[in-house]
Amino acid sequence: MRNHLERILYHESTILARLDEMAQEIARDYAGKDLAVVAVMNGSLMFLADLLRRIPLPLRFDCLAVASYHGGTRSSGRVDFLQNKLPDIDGRHVLVLDDILDSGITLDAVRRRLETERSPLSVRVCVLLRKRRPRESRVDADYVGFDIADEFVVGYGLDYRERYRNLPLIGVLGAEHIAG
Ligand code: IMP
Ligand code: MG
Repeated sequence: MRNHLERILYHESTILARLDEMAQEIARDYAGKDLAVVAVMNGSLMFLADLLRRIPLPLRFDCLAVASYHGGTRSSGRVDFLQNKLPDIDGRHVLVLDDILDSGITLDAVRRRLETERSPLSVRVCVLLRKRRPRESRVDADYVGFDIADEFVVGYGLDYRERYRNLPLIGVLGAEHIAG
């Protein structure tokens, strides 16, 4: 699998060191508040597990399954919610977790649904990666692990056609492994 990568961006130790810092910041900001984490599946799975174990707060978390890519390397512009029931976040401070902020369409849709169909006290966004590119959507992230170039990356939860999620590091997928 690793030999499908054109370049490694972040080794596991680098990712975990950054998560230590992010967790400290989040713990400071949400101390004494009722925090509900909503994780966008499946991409945020590794990030969720490693980040939440570093936050020493009595938080709760729920997962929300959405699909926006449908197999390519660019957003289709459509976000499908794969489950109808939204988490119980009324009266809580919500932190939405996702693997990557790319076009922003996914997080925009998630945020809007949570805000219009539930009554959270606040909603903030936390992503491991944010791509440097213009975004049509209004959404930005409040917590960002790493800002990266506009390249297609895999590993540590991020997939290409549902593969590479289990790579423990993050790298740029070689162009010859992306279906033309
Ligand atoms: P957005 O709606 O364009 O911001 O895309 C968000 C979703 O697209 C993420 O949650 C990822 O699942 C996927 N995605 C965006 N960029 C990449 C990438 O470089 N590698 C793998 N998945 C990506
Ligand atoms: Mg994906």
